Amino acid sequence: METILSAAGISKSFGGVHALKGVDFELAAGEVHALVGENGAGKSTLIKIFSGALRPDSGRILYLGKEVEISAPRVAQEMGIATVYQEPLLYPELDVVENIFMGREITNRYGNIDYREELSRARTLFEMVGVDPNFLVEKVGRLSLGLNQLVLIAKALSYKSRVIIFDEPTAILTEQEARRLFEIIGRLKEQGVGIIYISHRLEEVFQIADRITVMRDGEIKGTFPAREVTRDRIVELMAGRSLRSSVRRARPAYGKPVLSVQGFTRRPQYFDVSFDLYPGEILGFFGLVGSGRTEVALGMIGIAPPREGSLLLDDRPVNIRAPFEALDLGIAYLPEDRKTQGLFNILSIRYNISVSVLGRLKRLGFLVDRDREAEICNRYSAELSIKLRNINNLVSSLSGGNQQKVVLARWLAGSPRVLILDEPTRGIDVASKEEIHNKIFDLASRGVAIMVISSELPEILKISDRIIVMHEGRMTGIFDRESATPEGVLRVAMGEAGTGIQNQG
Ligand SMILES: Nc1ncnc2c1ncn2[C@@H]1O[C@H](COP(=O)(O)OP(=O)(O)OP(=O)(O)O)[C@@H](O)[C@H]1O
Ligand SMILES: [Mg+2]
Repeated sequence: METILSAAGISKSFGGVHALKGVDFELAAGEVHALVGENGAGKSTLIKIFSGALRPDSGRILYLGKEVEISAPRVAQEMGIATVYQEPLLYPELDVVENIFMGREITNRYGNIDYREELSRARTLFEMVGVDPNFLVEKVGRLSLGLNQLVLIAKALSYKSRVIIFDEPTAILTEQEARRLFEIIGRLKEQGVGIIYISHRLEEVFQIADRITVMRDGEIKGTFPAREVTRDRIVELMAGRSLRSSVRRARPAYGKPVLSVQGFTRRPQYFDVSFDLYPGEILGFFGLVGSGRTEVALGMIGIAPPREGSLLLDDRPVNIRAPFEALDLGIAYLPEDRKTQGLFNILSIRYNISVSVLGRLKRLGFLVDRDREAEICNRYSAELSIKLRNINNLVSSLSGGNQQKVVLARWLAGSPRVLILDEPTRGIDVASKEEIHNKIFDLASRGVAIMVISSELPEILKISDRIIVMHEGRMTGIFDRESATPEGVLRVAMGEAGTGIQNQG
């Protein structure tokens, strides 16, 4: 097959961090080439060089047989190299059509924007990606993140791109949207488009990739035809060691619940949600995106309190109006959207991890013990293998997955009684995911009550003692871990009749 894009000996450093060390990479026309590697391996840095967002320190880029300089994102776009980043960079106040033609509007002979012509071209693009053209006149800010991403794909097609790069596209997509994305990728391949695909979900990598390249510590560790390599081999190369898999623990003893949610209602997000959470229990929350799981959690910690219903802590009603009140009562929440809700971007890694512990120490009248603080940070960054050079660096200098781990470390270090984790392993590499599961098991066996919201069914099935399923704001099923099957849980999540709700352990 003909190579359309290649990198030869690309290096890139940030200060003292060698993010890329002499990387060679090739993309052929009509192939899906997956790029995998642990958090901080250098994947995003490499594709930012292809897309013109970063300049390499050394090395060469060849495109369609010629050496090129990709000096800015615009240059890449016009050459036909499009990138779909994880967080879509669109203008929320403009509609879909305006976003697609932003900066290169179609004008009529009087020099005015020809919206009708734009609309009709956009309609063709939406037909190609298989999205309802009625969305074209909606403001982008009103669409789901998944639809935003499909808009970006339509935009990429409008440039007649020869190369499309996806950086963890499915992390924010629903099951259905992900399936549609794979269909679109299939069609693009047939048209000879080359695709670079970054993902931590190895199942989907094996499902759609023709070749897989593994990166570790800024180097390429190997490129394989997807049919000729096993998942285990890929994981081993990514981690540079074989994995310690997480060990499932015994079922907790069900005594008195630590927390009871009774009749929580906040229309239209959720209705009559009731459940108990026991010490040492891992209670999984599954449901399709929009089913109300996160909203219930936000209700519990006082961000958007329910209009009806009550929350009991140790059998006593509590009235939580803000997250810090929840934290004072020992209830911690790891938000789903860590980038905007969880991180203090302009502060150090050290501060971002220790802030939960600091608050407690200060409230008790202790001076902050710097050594103890550093010790906590170092311990957790080792346990979660956070890839960093110095805990005093800014948290924003970390790779996407490592930033996620920092927020997680903060809550693990805070030793709460109740821990609510919303999508705790989104964007996290396979090896670290096992470590995080181990950490969750460990906390539970020490009596912490843990509620885990996850959109990954395999994860929910693996770690939960009980599983609550929600559909359109209602609880539609409770499963014990013995009785939970993937098909059963998914059926109830899609809105088919549940297994009957009994609220006990
Ligand atoms: N702007 C920056 N300043 C300093 N260091 C950076 C910067 N961007 C990336 N790095 C470092 O470069 C290395 C590679 O980061 P990169 O974002 O490419 O990783 P990744 O493979 O995409 O990881 P993830 O799976 O977590 O997204 C990391 O050690 C990261 O901390
Ligand atoms: Mg990345």
